[in-house]
Amino acid sequence: MTTVMKKSTIQILPSILSGDFGNLAGDAKRLEEAGADGIHIDIMDGHFVPNLTLGPRAVGAINRATNLFLDVHLMIYNPFDYIEQFAQEGADRITFHFEATEDVDDTIAFIRKCGKKAGLAFRPETSFEMIPKYLSRCDMVLLMTVSPGFGGQQFMPEVVDKIRLTRELCDRAGIPLDIQVDGGITDKTAKVCVEAGANVLVSGSYVFEQKSLAKGIESLR
Ligand code: DX5
Ligand code: ZN
Repeated sequence: MTTVMKKSTIQILPSILSGDFGNLAGDAKRLEEAGADGIHIDIMDGHFVPNLTLGPRAVGAINRATNLFLDVHLMIYNPFDYIEQFAQEGADRITFHFEATEDVDDTIAFIRKCGKKAGLAFRPETSFEMIPKYLSRCDMVLLMTVSPGFGGQQFMPEVVDKIRLTRELCDRAGIPLDIQVDGGITDKTAKVCVEAGANVLVSGSYVFEQKSLAKGIESLR
């Protein structure tokens, strides 16, 4: 389906990891109706993180159900080898982990060659020093606010300084980078992250636990 990324300063991307795995297409439609800016899809390989989730065909099924922007978060080793499949299935942005490959630049280049936006993710414990050289080389940096692998974990406040430092560097260099946060995002932690400079918020359990998806999404803006 054609993808439309709605323009709003803060983008809210619910994580379908907290959705109904028996009805991903239905949940994708519900998120679209509820005003989400896109859908975050967590791909885990059981090696880079101790959990297994979805593969490219599930991304294809979600893509056929919605016009929303599909934000694919790869928590897998050898991300390079799977980019083409995720691109063909309709991913709009492909984010992979700095810690999962030695080919960061090649992987970014290949994602872009496939016509997609490239995101680079950093675990909470990865030092800030690793980040600056990539700010001008990718479309988005994902600063994990929990240890990747599972939904429903507690937000790690120690990442807030990293968000602030990253945004400050971007502003100083005139780089209009998207900074995404993912993990433990609620109405309260969203505020802290946005104040520090994040503009793309992923939220799984918080959004899906609300009585109304629309109100849950709105409360994060
Ligand atoms: C965790 C995933 C997240 C997860 C967030 O490794 O990357 O996208 O779905 O879930 P919550 O919002 O419940 O922390
Ligand atoms: Zn994620």
